Amino acid sequence: MSTLEERMAASKHEIHSVLTEARVFPPPEAFARRAHIRSMEQYQQLWDEAAKDPDKYWGDRAREELYWKAPFQTVLDWKPPHARWFVEGKTNLAYNCLDRHLATRKDKPAILFEGEPGDRRSLTYGELSTEVNKLANALKSLGVRKGDRVGIYLPMVPEAAVAMLACARIGAVHSVVFGGFSAEALHERMNDAGAKVLLTADGGWRKGAVVPLLKNVEAALPHMPTMEKVVVLRRTGSTLALSGPKLVAWDTLVSGQSAECEPEWVESEHPLFILYTSGSTGKPKGVLHTTGGYAVNTSLTTRWVFDLREDDVYWCTADVGWVTGHSYVVYGPLMNGVTTILYEGAPTQPGPDRFWDIIERYKATILYTAPTAIRAFMRLGEEPVRKHDLSSLRLLGSVGEPINPEAWMWYRDVIGGGRCPVVDTWWQTETGCIMVSPLPGATPTKPGSATLPLPGIHAEILDREGNTVPRGQGGLLFVTRPWPSMLRTVYGDPDRYVRTYFNELPGMYFTGDGARTDAEGYIWLMGRVDDVVNVAGHRLGTAEVESALVAHETVAEAAVVGRPDDLKGTALVAFVTLKQGHTPSDALKKTLAAHVGREIGAIARPDEIRFAEALPKTRSGKIMRRLLRDVAAGNQASGDTTTLEDLNVLAALRQNDD
Ligand code: WTA
Repeated sequence: MSTLEERMAASKHEIHSVLTEARVFPPPEAFARRAHIRSMEQYQQLWDEAAKDPDKYWGDRAREELYWKAPFQTVLDWKPPHARWFVEGKTNLAYNCLDRHLATRKDKPAILFEGEPGDRRSLTYGELSTEVNKLANALKSLGVRKGDRVGIYLPMVPEAAVAMLACARIGAVHSVVFGGFSAEALHERMNDAGAKVLLTADGGWRKGAVVPLLKNVEAALPHMPTMEKVVVLRRTGSTLALSGPKLVAWDTLVSGQSAECEPEWVESEHPLFILYTSGSTGKPKGVLHTTGGYAVNTSLTTRWVFDLREDDVYWCTADVGWVTGHSYVVYGPLMNGVTTILYEGAPTQPGPDRFWDIIERYKATILYTAPTAIRAFMRLGEEPVRKHDLSSLRLLGSVGEPINPEAWMWYRDVIGGGRCPVVDTWWQTETGCIMVSPLPGATPTKPGSATLPLPGIHAEILDREGNTVPRGQGGLLFVTRPWPSMLRTVYGDPDRYVRTYFNELPGMYFTGDGARTDAEGYIWLMGRVDDVVNVAGHRLGTAEVESALVAHETVAEAAVVGRPDDLKGTALVAFVTLKQGHTPSDALKKTLAAHVGREIGAIARPDEIRFAEALPKTRSGKIMRRLLRDVAAGNQASGDTTTLEDLNVLAALRQNDD
């Protein structure tokens, strides 16, 4: 049985519920009337134009969305699977996010920041521009040049956006590492990127406690041979204790710098950032995005999908450590000149209504968040929501994992008061931008469906031979033609780029997701078909967690699988065999979970650890993951940690049908 069939069998219930999902919500008329894309006819027309003459379509978009210092001559140079977009064009993304707005939006708030403890700061476009230029000059003073890699390991504070933009301004390539990742995960990524400077903070606030970023950096520093300087922002302490010659205080470094910094006009294909993401091996992939194509599509999709208007107060709750934070917290909103909210902390700190309080106080008009958060809010009931006036909201977005129809309806009715369109947006770190999503003024929505590909995006559901799968049946989701914001390579491992994404069907990008279409061609995502799992909206590779586990002295072998979870979408279950001389116990489970936390980060800690005599294997020695998934989904842990499960008995029964 293939992983896809398995996935379909596992989600029979979901499929049944989405197959019978008959609710359709046309865009509210008043919304559609003033929307950027206001009818299905208009969508269809754009779609047809883009399909017929992609060079013209994308060329027009690129000229509309960006300021080009030097115009591009070639829209697309496609030598499968390698694309170059807007060739010969020169631009700068920081210029497009900041300078371009200064004539008309200098005093308009760009970022409305709220820290978890309640501290607030607002930065206008003018102020943000000054901060960016000063940091850009500071980076130059440290010897950072065009093409150099700079690590960013910061909490969700305005300086995270400043850091990214400062890199873009001087043509340095940023690599943001999520603040929830451990010291180990940090140095692994920084070494792979060969970063020479790291921008960090003493800590950040999360659930009322300090995330010890600087402590992690100090632990990682001896293992980061390429790192020349670490710039430390003071966020949580009244003083900064800097422990060595490589560390320098952010304030000291930046204070004397000039507020003028000529942007580095880079080629369209100049690398913009590397973002590490999980794949099906133990080693995370450095997804590389370049400047022009990424910028064009980020700007465009933010405006169309969120139907941005000048007076919007836009809030995407993602962390800048993930791609959603890159494209839809920082670059997309700023390129469009809107006001964006940045919130540092946890959704329920200090109380269950923190999000709704923020929306009421800032009069947020757009909210973009993850299904796992929506499901967590559902559990808390309507009361925390009802305490607040959410009438400023006009549009709701969802991203990161499939949203179940119940959560979709709750989002629409309870948060959106039944009046806000919901856009369920499908995309990936690798795609750079939203690919499949309703356009809120045009597309009738169905709870649980990401609906239709955006114009110019050829997202198709195919079987392994490349045949189109009949409507209603499941298949693999491919993108069959190049698009401007596609990843360009896996940093430092060009073969892996080809192997991972273009091996399934040559020349076509394989997403790793299963999906089906309904009778109207709407796309319904069914989850990953590879060894990647989405745990509470965080993308993890089961192999990464396995290699963390086997790195522990007591562990002989480990297999990690996902099991459906009402709240997290997927929960992690680890089956572990121990080395001779070690016995299973609750204490050892805790030790192993903490060990994974140290190796990767708290987000990767298994929800359940089960000890087994041996891992069930096929005759050829492959771990029977399907069996383990069934076991994980079927029975709860017995709670008896002193017995070893004998999975081989089950395996013997299964030998024939695997
Ligand atoms: C999943 C996050 C269903 C999918 C932007 C994809 C989704 C992976 C959706 C990428 C959605 C994202 N519906 N599934 N609307 N959005 N996914 O790289 O499995 O962190 O492959 O990018 O998240 O996760 P990543």
